[in-house]
Amino acid sequence: MKMFELIKDQIKEIKKIVFVTGAGISQESGIPTFRGKDGLWRNYDAMKLATIDAFYENPKLIWEWYNERRCNIFAASPNQGHKAIAELEKYVEVVILTQNIDGLHQKAGSSKVLELHGSIVKIKCTVCDFKDEIVTEFLEIPPLCKCGNILRPNVVWFGESLPQDIWQKAIILSSQCDLMVIAGTSLVVSPANTLPIYAKQNHAILIEINPEKTEMSSEMDLVLRNTSANALPELVSIFKNN
Ligand code: APR
Repeated sequence: MKMFELIKDQIKEIKKIVFVTGAGISQESGIPTFRGKDGLWRNYDAMKLATIDAFYENPKLIWEWYNERRCNIFAASPNQGHKAIAELEKYVEVVILTQNIDGLHQKAGSSKVLELHGSIVKIKCTVCDFKDEIVTEFLEIPPLCKCGNILRPNVVWFGESLPQDIWQKAIILSSQCDLMVIAGTSLVVSPANTLPIYAKQNHAILIEINPEKTEMSSEMDLVLRNTSANALPELVSIFKNN
């Protein structure tokens, strides 16, 4: 396979790599994506499950949905795509900016992961400042805070801002990278889909790994119509052997 021929000539100049990842990178670990053929938002209405209004309307329903996803995610293992990115740290500076809440990059051993949309392991109070990590699959429904109010998953829902400290770091890292690899994201959700623009302003090489076309495919220097578990190990082998 010669998927990454483009970067072979420039490999010596690539010091900092940023990965922007989305649900597609975990698809081969058995976690469904949101859009596309088997996407969650085909069978479920995002506005009824992933907004604060939906949560206040029916916290029990939302928590049941999250419990089911926690079970699925906790049982999942990182695939060859996650593992390849983790291995790449041995050869070059790597940071992952992920929209995923599943923690599989960390499970694979990656040390620099910024979770743009929060984490399914984390919970927070809807009223006070309480935050925690809960590693069991099931939470009693609806979980209550010591202050008496309802706890919610510490994830970013539609209409909510990203954690600002993480987002500012993501912008800076994207603006400073030499190569950005965008894997498994439809790039339809803002503001994460603006990160490639910051990389482009720094004249970084942009590579998209996605079996399907995305809104930004035409902006890429290289598009690989392949799955991340197939393509990413080859990227690592180039850095390993050069
Ligand atoms: N390898 C690489 N890409 C894949 C694979 C695979 N094995 N399988 C599917 N894909 C691609 C799909 O073609 C699609 O473009 O992954 C992309 C997944 O897109 P989405 O389901 O839209 O996921 P994502 O981009 O992460 O969504 C962004 O939307 O609902 C919100 O908060 C949620 O973080 C999520 C955000």
